[in-house]
Amino acid sequence: MDKNTSIHGMWSSRLMFILAATGSAVGLGNIWRFPYMTSDNGGGAFVLVYLGCIFFVGLPILVAEILIGRHGRVSPINTFRKLTRESGASRHWVAIGWIGIVAGILILSFYSVVAGWTLHYGWLYLKQLFGGAPITDPGATFQGLLASPVELTFWHAMFMLLTVAVVALGVEKGLERAVRFLMPSLFVLLLVLVGYGFTTGRMADAAAFLFRPDWSAIDGNVFLRAMGQAFFTLSLGMCTMMTYGAYLPREGVSIPRAGLAIALTDTSVALLAGLAIFPVVLSFGIDPAGGGPGLIFTSLPLAFEAMPFGILYGLLFFVLLAVAAWTSSISLLEPATAFLVERFGIANRKRAALGIAGLSWLLGLLSVLSLNLWSGVRILDRDIMTFIEFIANDLMLPLGGLLIALFAGWALNSTILREQLSDMPPALFTTWRWLLRVVAPALVLIVLVRAVL
Ligand code: PFF
Repeated sequence: MDKNTSIHGMWSSRLMFILAATGSAVGLGNIWRFPYMTSDNGGGAFVLVYLGCIFFVGLPILVAEILIGRHGRVSPINTFRKLTRESGASRHWVAIGWIGIVAGILILSFYSVVAGWTLHYGWLYLKQLFGGAPITDPGATFQGLLASPVELTFWHAMFMLLTVAVVALGVEKGLERAVRFLMPSLFVLLLVLVGYGFTTGRMADAAAFLFRPDWSAIDGNVFLRAMGQAFFTLSLGMCTMMTYGAYLPREGVSIPRAGLAIALTDTSVALLAGLAIFPVVLSFGIDPAGGGPGLIFTSLPLAFEAMPFGILYGLLFFVLLAVAAWTSSISLLEPATAFLVERFGIANRKRAALGIAGLSWLLGLLSVLSLNLWSGVRILDRDIMTFIEFIANDLMLPLGGLLIALFAGWALNSTILREQLSDMPPALFTTWRWLLRVVAPALVLIVLVRAVL
């Protein structure tokens, strides 16, 4: 096989890679999870730690993942097999690929359930457009949805099918088409909502909540949640960006620049989501602290009912959010699918995607039930869905990221690094390498150890 192409296909341009990788990064993590994590973990203090994690830990690891992928050109497990051989490193590093596959299946399981909520809300607004009942009590509407296992399972299945459809089609036909114009539309719609936020008169308070840190709120737990959120939002630690990097052409693409563009876009979307949501939360007298996973579903409908053309905006918002989730969920499914394809042959791509998605869908039923019939079941003080989320996002992703940093920093042959990062100025290269070798691993380790002890 040619060293410069992948059997799974290639991105047709640099822009397509950036769009696809940004599509992976920007998703429920930014618009659903970031606001409620901020709300539950002390506002500005959480945001500050989160930003630190993005730029000092996430960005260096993002660059490492992309370059490892572009050099390997195959799925993560086989990439680690190849790279450890080339660098004369221990075969144990291959475990990183396995952690990634397990984390991906776990994350996809609940991700699809939550994405199902957004599909359901899109449907509610579509019905409203044609005379359906308005959402006058968003709290009750949301609780009503969670109480219905049948409805949750239906939307969870719909979303999983959408995901499989794209992944089964492969890189050029499936992934690229989905991201081309839908991502920019979501960005514009968020700006409209921030604009509405200004009309509520509570923008200044919202900004203060988001950006004025209350130092006393920072504890080990805030660090763990912020670190987990940084990995989750950048799609790091489970070899997704590595897989996307494997389809990235050699010529004319600077990995550090692409990484920076992805991290900046992702961060801006999260902050814009915060600036869109908190003015609404405050102006309707909802307590901004402790909003929980229902935050956007119980607050934004209030704004949509109050603003001109609100129903239309509501419909657009939830549909685009589902699309953002879609461009992320395909990236959750791709690494495991690519691995099976390498094992069983290209002709089996559809079956591979369907098999992994089916497994994830089944696991997702645990999350569905934990919202209603099994809501009393607690593991380590959490319901089942929160527990799966905790294990995958807050523990497995940082652990995977830590190992990737150590692998790229210490075990990988320097010639490969220099070759992949040939356009990086020497001083920046050295800084990046020490961030990977020492700073990022140390920070992740401290946070993980404190969390476990
Ligand atoms: N980054 C996505 C989001 O913020 O919604 C979620 C995600 C996608 C996490 C892909 C991990 C991943 F590999």
